[in-house]
Amino acid sequence: MRLDRYLSEATGMSRKEATKTLHREDVTVDGVVHKKGAFQVPEDALVICNNVPLKLLGPTYLMMHKPLGSVCANDDPLHRTVFTYLDVPNPDKLHTVGRLDLDTSGLLLITNDGQWSHRITAPKQQCPKVYHAWLADPLTEADVAAFAAGLQLRGEAKLTAPAKLEIINEREALVHLHEGRYHQVRRMFAAVGNKVEQLHREQVGGLKLDPALAPGESRALTTEEIALF
Ligand code: URA
Repeated sequence: MRLDRYLSEATGMSRKEATKTLHREDVTVDGVVHKKGAFQVPEDALVICNNVPLKLLGPTYLMMHKPLGSVCANDDPLHRTVFTYLDVPNPDKLHTVGRLDLDTSGLLLITNDGQWSHRITAPKQQCPKVYHAWLADPLTEADVAAFAAGLQLRGEAKLTAPAKLEIINEREALVHLHEGRYHQVRRMFAAVGNKVEQLHREQVGGLKLDPALAPGESRALTTEEIALF
């Protein structure tokens, strides 16, 4: 990889800033100062910039316990983004696998592998997701039947795909979905005249949120977990 690209990938600086940094003779590769952006960095070389050793972000697969009030975006003028909870040098290279609303907590996958995330989010994959919902009004068996039959969401022509509504108690349920429309769980409950007061994602495909993770915490996925998708 070219040295200017290495610098921008490892630090998040622009190519222009990388060129300036190189001209200031602030960068060494294996102990030798290099000023040219086109220099090819050998594999496993030690690159030091302003006395700080750099590291490229390799393939990254994380699960986060998304906290309430955070947004799944790289920048937001009002709210804290999920990436600010990560301790990685250049989170701009990462993306969330789908999104959870500002007011939804729970399992969020984060990666820099676009093919892997596409396998999870592409509609034709119908990757199942499980949400725990707390409702304003009592749940009924009629709701279970309506979720299974498919619901007409406001402003949409096509019914939702059959979904399983598993009642836990009067105002709590698990929703098993195979699609991912905008605000889907909240809109499904609105379609049966109820209101979601709290929403938490427990599972994506065969992967459950690690109960050891507190809100805002994340951990790397294991090889077996990555291979689930
Ligand atoms: N459905 C919602 O309504 N919100 C989410 O964040 C995810 C699914």
